[in-house]
Amino acid sequence: MRSNSCGELNNHHIGTTVTLCGWVDRCRDHGGVIFIDLRDRSGTIQVTVDPEQGKDIFAIAEGLRNETVLQAIGKISHRPQESINKKIKTGEIEVLATQIKILNTVSENLPFSISINANDESIKEEVRLRHRYLDLRRGKMNKNLRLRHETVKVARNFLETEGFIEVETPLLTRSTPEGARDYLVPSRVCEGEWFALPQSPQLFKQLLMVGGIEKYYQVAKCFRDEDLRSDRQPEFTQLDMEMSFMDQEQILDLNERLITSIWKKIKNVDLKTPFPKLTWQEAMDRFGTDRPDTRYEMELTDVAEIFKNSPFKVFSGAIKSGGAVKCITVREGNQSISNVRIKPGGDIFTEAQNAGAGGLAFIRVREGKEIDSIGAIKDNLTKEQKDLLLEKTNATAGDLLLFGAGKTQIVNKTLDRVRQFLAKELGLINTSEENKNWNFLWVVDFPMFEFNEEENRLEAMHHPFCAPNASDLGGNQKEWKERLPNAKAQAYDLVLNGLELGGGSLRIHNSELQKLVLSVIGFSEDQAQKEFGFLMNALETGAPPHGGLAFGLDRILMLLAGEDSIRDTIAFPKTQQARCLMTQAPGAASKNQLNELHIQSTVETEEN
Ligand code: AMO
Repeated sequence: MRSNSCGELNNHHIGTTVTLCGWVDRCRDHGGVIFIDLRDRSGTIQVTVDPEQGKDIFAIAEGLRNETVLQAIGKISHRPQESINKKIKTGEIEVLATQIKILNTVSENLPFSISINANDESIKEEVRLRHRYLDLRRGKMNKNLRLRHETVKVARNFLETEGFIEVETPLLTRSTPEGARDYLVPSRVCEGEWFALPQSPQLFKQLLMVGGIEKYYQVAKCFRDEDLRSDRQPEFTQLDMEMSFMDQEQILDLNERLITSIWKKIKNVDLKTPFPKLTWQEAMDRFGTDRPDTRYEMELTDVAEIFKNSPFKVFSGAIKSGGAVKCITVREGNQSISNVRIKPGGDIFTEAQNAGAGGLAFIRVREGKEIDSIGAIKDNLTKEQKDLLLEKTNATAGDLLLFGAGKTQIVNKTLDRVRQFLAKELGLINTSEENKNWNFLWVVDFPMFEFNEEENRLEAMHHPFCAPNASDLGGNQKEWKERLPNAKAQAYDLVLNGLELGGGSLRIHNSELQKLVLSVIGFSEDQAQKEFGFLMNALETGAPPHGGLAFGLDRILMLLAGEDSIRDTIAFPKTQQARCLMTQAPGAASKNQLNELHIQSTVETEEN
């Protein structure tokens, strides 16, 4: 149907006759001559229709609507000097059409313009998602999907060169715990029983190691029924891998090389390796989060020492009840941030409140080491304490200190959130493509467990298959149960500019230890056997030491494409309500279908 793509044509093609196919990007009638911008995925080219070519062809050109699917045949010619368009690649040439044929018409009014000249930003996302097929035709989305394809190709190529093979794992399976709710699928044939869609291929990839595969990878679909955000989808893709007989350093090195090769091929950026490592504790202390954005400062300072005996009860009370008092230093904050913004009702105060804080105390640093605050903080500080505060926070005249006091977890969450908010507000992040900082870092030494206050029990921080540090466990097996709750895991996350790109760990390959870990998080022996008996049995059959990692492919793409949401990197994503607006999924099931599946709905719908 076509001899060439629109965007590939250039001066070398002048004089040749080409057949092109594509969509009408726009049409202009300039005093009798009609100019059609014909677009395919490679770009656009001007097709010029002169009435001298005949009545028929001109009549077709006159009636064209945007997005009509067209075939055009004609000779490539140099454009007259005055109509050269330097802004597009094919701007020096045009096709002098001898034939045009409509391959398909556009009958409806389109919900938005697809043209390369359209204003992308003005289209509501809801409208884009409802008409996703049209949205994908737009340059930006088309480019993002091709970028995704290229990225996966680089990753496959890298991993296969390293000896990895791709193995598919089941989608209809048992629950694979990663901390989210499962998507369940009822079984018709096994009455009253349910499959769960995998939250990740975790257990299967471990079993592949027991199966002697040694190096596995998969571009794997995962399903998690959890609260959605711009970097979370209910159905997403992992670049998942697992390997035997490799220690943590070797796994991190391999993954650094994988990421480096992607960034080189896709962005032509030479990343510096090895990536820095932060222990989980250090990340929490300095940034209040285990996925710190290190492109800007404003690190957290622990000031509990200064305030522990202060008559200012909000601070000293927090410390006495086992909590924390920390602050961030906003450079020149006295000028850039007014009191209105940090007092109740202000935008920065609201950020703190949304993270769970009861308030946001502050101190303004003045000339001559003087400080100003609202309320009782400064009145209760001695000169030595004041000096120590300024020394610890490195604050000088003009700076603003923002405090969090209370439960350590809330203080960290509050200051992390305020820090991120202020970095954007104050323009501290250089996002220009040339100067982009790609601040990759590994967070290592995660605790094995964290305390779930609601359920009053320990739960696995990553998942219950991570191996503890051998030194935390000690050589005496009898002590393992006692030592486990405080052990660190041989787990690692890769973080880029405040986003968790991937995570993994070395795994437990000893079934006794696996049983112990399950018992620490509250599994009875029976329950452990019922849910994970197959894993424990497999570990007893000669499981090799193994470990692995999974990247969130959609997140990697979001950063590579410079998008704010992973929805723009997925062909057919779901909304924040986990719906597909185009197909209207999920939808109701008929009474018959439910009967066949042995299900009775508690919700009345038209169908049931
Ligand atoms: P984890 O749960 O950390 O680890 O997931 C790995 C990576 O997957 C991405 N991710 C998501 N991306 C989009 N939407 C979501 N809802 C979502 N949830 C997670 C993140 C994350 O870093 N089995 C382990 C890996 C292992 O131990 O090898 C796992 O799934 O980028």
